[in-house]
Amino acid sequence: MLGDLQRVLFHESTILCRLDEMAHEITRDFTDRELTVVAVLNGSFMFLSDLLRRIPLPLRVDCVSVSSYHGGTTSSGVITFDQLSTPDVAGRHVLVLDDILDSGQTLHAIREKLAAAGARSVRICVLLRKTRPRVRDVTADYVGFDIGDEFVVGYGLDFQEKYRNLPCIGVLSEAAISAGLADIAANAASSEALRA
Ligand code: IMP
Ligand code: MG
Repeated sequence: MLGDLQRVLFHESTILCRLDEMAHEITRDFTDRELTVVAVLNGSFMFLSDLLRRIPLPLRVDCVSVSSYHGGTTSSGVITFDQLSTPDVAGRHVLVLDDILDSGQTLHAIREKLAAAGARSVRICVLLRKTRPRVRDVTADYVGFDIGDEFVVGYGLDFQEKYRNLPCIGVLSEAAISAGLADIAANAASSEALRA
């Protein structure tokens, strides 16, 4: 898998050092509030477990699962909640955890849903923030690292469900992206042939 990276952006040790700082900040800000963490799966699973074990506060954890990519490297803009129920956040201070803030569409949809469910406050925490114009106006309150507008994988982030278990974060090579996209095209063509 490492061979498919064009370059490594953040090694595991760098990520964990940054999580120490973020956890310290979050602990300070939520000391007097009852905290409910809502994690956006699947991308945030590593971030979630590494960050939360650094926060020594009583807290609740809930998860939501959304899809916005349909195999490519850009969001389709259609945010589908893969879960029927919304976490019970009425009257609660919520911290949403996501892997990356890109176009902002996912976090915008989640923030609206949690606000509609009666959350008392909603803050947003992301491991990565891409420096690019947002399609939706979303500001993250806690950010691990700012990165350029490049497609990254690892530490929970995927391309076609691969690379999530890489312990570091890196830029995926053009060759690996092209190969993945060619696979999708070939699969689509063979399903079409079977249907005909
Ligand atoms: P947004 O709705 O465009 O902000 O996209 C957010 C979601 O898209 C994230 O939660 C990721 O799952 C996915 N995403 C955005 N950029 C990347 C990337 O560079 N690598 C992998 N997934 C990404
Ligand atoms: Mg995601």
